[in-house]
Amino acid sequence: MKPNAPPRLSWSGKEQALAGRGAPVAARPEEWVAENGQGRFFHGDNAAALETLAEANAGTVTLAYMDPPFLTNRTFDAIARPDGDAPRSGPLKARPRKLAFDDRWDGRADYLASIGRRLVLVRELLAPHGCVVVHVDPKTSHYVKVLADEIFGDDAFASEIVWRYRRWPSKTPNFQRVHDVLLRYRKDPKAKPRWNTPYEPLAPSTIATWGTTKQRAVFEKDGRRARSSSTDEPTKGVPMGDVWDIGVIAPISRERTGYPSQKPEALLERLVTALTDPGEIVLDPYAGSGTTLAVAARLGRTFVGIDQSDVAFDVAAKRLAAGGIRLAKVGPGVGTREPGRTRRTA
Ligand SMILES: C[S@@+](CC[C@H](N)C(=O)[O-])C[C@H]1O[C@@H](n2cnc3c(N)ncnc32)[C@H](O)[C@@H]1O
Repeated sequence: MKPNAPPRLSWSGKEQALAGRGAPVAARPEEWVAENGQGRFFHGDNAAALETLAEANAGTVTLAYMDPPFLTNRTFDAIARPDGDAPRSGPLKARPRKLAFDDRWDGRADYLASIGRRLVLVRELLAPHGCVVVHVDPKTSHYVKVLADEIFGDDAFASEIVWRYRRWPSKTPNFQRVHDVLLRYRKDPKAKPRWNTPYEPLAPSTIATWGTTKQRAVFEKDGRRARSSSTDEPTKGVPMGDVWDIGVIAPISRERTGYPSQKPEALLERLVTALTDPGEIVLDPYAGSGTTLAVAARLGRTFVGIDQSDVAFDVAAKRLAAGGIRLAKVGPGVGTREPGRTRRTA
């Protein structure tokens, strides 16, 4: 290693894995397009889909949101939701369950090899002003951070967002885990980033002292800040920090699809609004129930979703249809489906 070289992760087979050499060849994903032209869905392995996309779409994506499984070494079931006006409460155990996805791995290196390969491919697809947000948990975030530093470059790291939520407390002799970690990397740190400043409300102590109108800083002749003066303009709040308090989806919420580890729309709304403009492309290679796709479509962005799970595809397609977006299959076998695929691929 060169003197002063930044620290990097090392494991056997890392270079081949990141370059996609030696991985079993995955079937070409089925492609579905939104009939209104607002997006696409690839049903199949995301590495294969990202490789296909890179052939004609390199440099076009403004935001990629990656929400991979969290290395829990277990499988996840989707729980059927009552349709229409049927009651949304009732015993969860009684509802039909179906395997949604498999999060079992041959150790941490196997997991990191998979994430690393996807990061390399996603980077190719990003526009110079674009960025990726990788959603992980505190057990893997530090490994993924070091890996992403290597793939994107240390100076491309933009933020670590802490998503703080409240949930039913567990009886563990430890501090309750109530946050996830979202790591944001820019494609090109020299390019002007896409950025629409989000605001959060003023602190009660600030409102008590200054009220809810904009304050203007007053400077001395020598440039030193002297004081603030009040204006009549109402304030938008303060520019958003990197700790976000957003509730998890309530069990009886209309938003809940029954898909495991579904993320709240409010989280995606914040990311999509801040990091893209209308008309730009939002990519989600781990689309799950289609949260990102539904939010992107609603906010007038173009979506590209990928997921290999049959259950995810069904749930996401249904969710998009509820928002008026119907998916049509591209190529041979229009309207047909392949047998269930839920196991992860390398
Ligand atoms: C944590 S869930 C995503 C949840 C999603 N953000 C939501 O709000 O519903 C992870 C998803 O990644 C998918 N997945 C995992 N590995 C994949 C792979 N190699 N290719 C495609 N999809 C994959 C799983 O099927 C699962 O739906």
